[in-house]
Amino acid sequence: MPRYLVTGCAGFIGSTLTDSLLAGGAEVVGVDAFTDYYPRARKEAQLAPALEHPAFELLERDLGGDALPASSLEGLDGIFHLAARPGVRASWGPAFGAYLNDNLAATHAIVEAATKRDVRVVFASSSSIYGDALAYPTAEDTQPAPISPYGVTKLACEHLIGAHARDLGLDCVLLRYFTVYGPRQRPDMAFQRIVEALASGREFEVYGDGSQSRDFTYVADAVAATIAAMSAGQPGRTYNVGGGSEATLREVVTTLEDLSGRSLAIRYGERAKGDVRRTLADTGRLRGELGWEPRFDLRTGLAAQLDAAGVLASSAG
Ligand code: NAD
Ligand code: UGA
Repeated sequence: MPRYLVTGCAGFIGSTLTDSLLAGGAEVVGVDAFTDYYPRARKEAQLAPALEHPAFELLERDLGGDALPASSLEGLDGIFHLAARPGVRASWGPAFGAYLNDNLAATHAIVEAATKRDVRVVFASSSSIYGDALAYPTAEDTQPAPISPYGVTKLACEHLIGAHARDLGLDCVLLRYFTVYGPRQRPDMAFQRIVEALASGREFEVYGDGSQSRDFTYVADAVAATIAAMSAGQPGRTYNVGGGSEATLREVVTTLEDLSGRSLAIRYGERAKGDVRRTLADTGRLRGELGWEPRFDLRTGLAAQLDAAGVLASSAG
């Protein structure tokens, strides 16, 4: 039975990855600090299925400060490092200290542990390292130019991992996820806010005019790429993980209204600082080297997210 460490196991993507690894017959040691970025109760609910599983063990630890017990690091086949402070827009100002702890210090602890034990690390990086990208579709060798403090910390994590790979022999694979969505999406992210506004009748605030676009990635597709990277990613390689569903925020609102049979109360506000105008991944490397393909188009994925929140219209499908 393969044995993996998953950091950020109670989070949106980490809990979905953990469920998938357990369903595939792996043993999982999960680490999470249950940080206050969003409510603990939400994270506990996300982790509930894993906690029922006999092959899952939870370690509640802050990777930025707490040491992991040596026993948790023995006999590992790999580390999926997803723990982070993930918000783009919240990363300005005094919150930056938490970004340094949860992104840089936590990543440093993981790469040190992995280097010492010769264990592969698959790292969850981000499309935000490209900023307003210099080319579309954006290939992995495009010059990084982050425009948010969050993006700067994710790029710094990539470099920290790269330095350990180059001179200390760390085996690593870097994944740059492009805006992931689906059931359990974080409550600060656009789709989840829209879904919750549709459910409650409350207003949704669009930052800017809604013409910004993203290469949205369904969570099961991101998880499949992550598992493939652990088993078959080339050492030291970086892969974009993008769902191939570029859409503007306005287009997404229209689809969600259609699928829910409800109309959204919208307020238009200021563009958010650090917000990129557009993302679109070139995923040729991931497809070519790992045989990965996105399996969920945007409409199907949005229907699943609405369904999980109980607001999918019975006529939709
Ligand atoms: P999330 O906030 O739902 O999950 C992150 C988890 O990490 C949380 O449960 C949190 O409690 C935990 N954590 C944070 N700091 C920690 C620390 N110091 N020690 C231990 N645990 C800690 O976020 P998510 O959306 O699931 O993102 C997962 C990863 O993917 C992050 O690294 C994020 O930067 C990256 N990413 C996410 C997206 C996306 O669209 N969601 C896109 C690109 C990259
Ligand atoms: C997402 C994740 O939140 C980051 O963790 C991740 O690193 C990043 O993707 C990435 O791909 O690297 P983002 O693309 O900003 O960041 O995704 P959302 O939070 O869902 O926002 C999408 C768009 O909706 C943005 O333009 C945002 O400004 C807008 N938005 C968001 C609103 O208009 N209103 C809101 O209430 C929330």
